[in-house]
Parts: sequence; C-alpha cells; structure tokens
Amino acid sequence: MSERTNLMEGGKDEILLNVLHRAQEKHGYLSESVLKKISSKYSIPIAKLYGVVKFYTMFHTEPQGKNIIEICGSPSCVLNNGISLEQFLKSELKIKIGETTQDKLFSLYKTSCIGCCDEAPAMLLNRKPCTRLTIDSLKATIENLRKEAGEKKE
Ligand code: FES
Repeated sequence: MSERTNLMEGGKDEILLNVLHRAQEKHGYLSESVLKKISSKYSIPIAKLYGVVKFYTMFHTEPQGKNIIEICGSPSCVLNNGISLEQFLKSELKIKIGETTQDKLFSLYKTSCIGCCDEAPAMLLNRKPCTRLTIDSLKATIENLRKEAGEKKE
C-alpha cells in the first residue's frame, strides 16, 4: 500500500509525521508553500496540517537558526540548575524560548525529557545531546559556535 493511500485513508498519523519530518529536513522549516504542497499531494486539509505542526514543538513554520538549542525543561534537569541555564541562554542570546537570534546563528527551544536524566542538566544541540551542562560549558559552546561562524564568513 502506498504512503499516499495510507494518508488518504486517515488514521495514519505516524506516516503524516514522517512526511512532515522529511519536508522539514529538506527545507529547514515548514513554510506555507511546503504545507500547501503536502496538503495537495496527500489530500489533507491545510488546517489539519497546521494543527499537527503547531501541536508538536519539533515542527517549525519559521526559518530556523543555524544552531538549534533545545534546553530540557523536565524535572531532573530543572531541579539540577536547569532554570539558571535557561536564563543564561536567553540572556546570552538575547532571545526568548521559541525565537531565533538576529544573526540567524541560534534558535532556542525548550524540550521535554531527552532521556539523559542521569546526566542532568541536558539539552540538544542540533539534535545531539549535551549533558552535565554548566554555565561555563554553555558559554564555551556558544563562543565556539560564534567563532566557527565568524571563521566561515572570512
Ligand atoms: S529530565 Fe532532562 S533529560 Fe530527562
């Protein structure tokens, strides 16, 4: 049975999520035009697509920064200095959760547990777990990424 057929039959949310993931990987985010193409190809109402995309924090309808930081907001991390780390990131990057820096270098999000509770506090940086975080380790990471970006511009 084809993917298209499955989606048209409904009830195949997992396949729809895969389609959206692949589209986001390809385009960097799910723009209106990308969602319209998916809507048309799979005969899914655009409102349903927006509903799914807005429900899951992993989908983005705006262009993302080069580096995506997802700080864990679940209890083990929050109780292990996670709040200070989140405040540091917001202050250092001068953005709120869900925003992208003006230079498009960083986007900051909050995620639920990423399965690294035994090494809390943790975050994902470009989907890779970073654990046992401290303000110093975050400072160094951001500095390195800024430096790398500066070097690439030269
Ligand atoms: S609570 Fe943060 S990784 Fe589990």
